Amino acid sequence: MAGFLGEAHLWVKALHILAVIAWMAAFLYLPRLFVYHCRAETGSKQSETFKVMERRLLRGIMNPSMIVAWAAGLALMVNLEAWTDGWFHVKATAVVVLTVLHMMAARWRRDFAADANRHSERFFRVMNEVPALLMVVIVIMAVVRPF
Ligand code: HEM
Repeated sequence: MAGFLGEAHLWVKALHILAVIAWMAAFLYLPRLFVYHCRAETGSKQSETFKVMERRLLRGIMNPSMIVAWAAGLALMVNLEAWTDGWFHVKATAVVVLTVLHMMAARWRRDFAADANRHSERFFRVMNEVPALLMVVIVIMAVVRPF
């Protein structure tokens, strides 16, 4: 394999895929916790338990896996000069939207932690679908590379 990564390219790609699996797993779970948290009474034992689960999921899995997915992905991008490819333009756009949604989820988590959530259960049900749809677009672009 050419480029600055040389033979390590495939190891970095394996790390990249492992990191995105962890990132997506956390991303598909956190909004679901928010859906049920909306039903829990403020100050209740259940609500306090959801706060702990949301904080650990975000800080222990979602944030670190996003950082590793980005770092490994950018190394692969530079190694392949992927910015010249159409598939990568679409993928990069979907990944940026996913990352903005990640930041919003971190904000919603802080609101729940402060008992100041302003969104409905229905809002989080809809938000739960968005990462899944983006993931479908991203994986098709990364694997099929239609253009
Ligand atoms: C966070 C920023 C990201 C960047 C900069 C990035 C960049 C890249 C690049 C350049 C490749 C091509 C590697 C190669 O052909 O050897 C790649 C492969 C891949 N990416 Fe990403 N990616 C990112 C996020 C994601 C996300 C969020 C997902 C899934 C939801 C994903 C799934 C994949 C998959 C499955 C492959 C392997 C495709 C294959 O070889 O068939 N990536 N990524």
